[in-house]
Amino acid sequence: MPRVFSGIQPTGDLHLGNLLGAVRNWVQDQHVADSFYCVVDLHALTVPKEPGEVGRSSLEMAQTLLACGLDPDVCTLFVQSHVREHSELAWLIQCVTSIGELRRMTQFKDKADKQDFVSAGLFTYPALQAADILLYDTDRVPVGEDQRQHIELTRDVAERFNARYGNTFVIPEATVPRAGARVMDLQVPTDKMSKSADSDAGVVYLMEDLAATARKFKRAVTDSDGDVRFDPATKPGVSNLLSILGAVTDRSPEDLADEYTQYGPLKSDTADAVVEVLRPIQERFAELVEDPTGTGELLAIGAEKATAVASDVYRRAVDQVGLLPRV
Ligand code: TYM
Repeated sequence: MPRVFSGIQPTGDLHLGNLLGAVRNWVQDQHVADSFYCVVDLHALTVPKEPGEVGRSSLEMAQTLLACGLDPDVCTLFVQSHVREHSELAWLIQCVTSIGELRRMTQFKDKADKQDFVSAGLFTYPALQAADILLYDTDRVPVGEDQRQHIELTRDVAERFNARYGNTFVIPEATVPRAGARVMDLQVPTDKMSKSADSDAGVVYLMEDLAATARKFKRAVTDSDGDVRFDPATKPGVSNLLSILGAVTDRSPEDLADEYTQYGPLKSDTADAVVEVLRPIQERFAELVEDPTGTGELLAIGAEKATAVASDVYRRAVDQVGLLPRV
């Protein structure tokens, strides 16, 4: 079975972009691959947080992922800081990553522009992400489009490490979904849907009131030419609705475009389809929050399974570098 690894930051609530770009594919992959999914709490610390905040949101993120359909009987779900090899390998990876490579990362540039205090951790973040992936001999990394550059960097640094110290790491590949890889904001359809958007009006959260979800779709920004066509460059709003409907119904946005002549029915059908996807997720989440201890125990089992793999790969990396073994 191929090995799959992916991660998500426990910052704010999960939104439709995270679901369609990543988590939905994790749920599918868990049945066909040996899958490791990680709540990357250490990554969340790269921007300032209140004491306790990251711990609380890590538990909530794990419950949300379980509610979306991750099944701990078939996949490994765990929290990054519970497996210390992530931080340890990150150091070795930082030492084969150049400042120039890190400077070119668009996510760093975007995030750094929004911060008064830019931490060194925010800058070296992609090295920690590479360590996350390489620790599991990962073949495939299911992510949304915005993570492609980080996976490319992971490949480059793994190849450099292998060339310098001998064959150590499996070279992973990004898998980006056909539909839903870049869900856009419903109000500013030229921006990707993001937890850090200035306004929530265009961001569909998984746990929000479903009447509010329907309203957000009905108020989605389109354009004034009245023609339903899939053309992201000139018709970003309409194309985003077609992409979302396509991702949710497993159809191509181009085919769907042929079935509509007006924006109103496209908006209400997309709203209905999304609401039907979110309803069971919300019901399951409501059950899970009643039992935080149960989720904690699942995460402990996940951390144990992850450690079993990660400690071997970390040891292999240290041996290849040739650090003095402790006797
Ligand atoms: P994060 O937490 O920002 O997002 C988690 C996943 O959701 C996808 N995503 C989207 N997909 C489609 N449309 C959108 N609008 C949208 N917004 C987010 C992201 O592409 C991602 O797949 N650096 C990563 C976390 C990470 C990671 C890893 C991922 C850390 N280590 C190792 C993979 C492997 C991040 O910030 O994702």
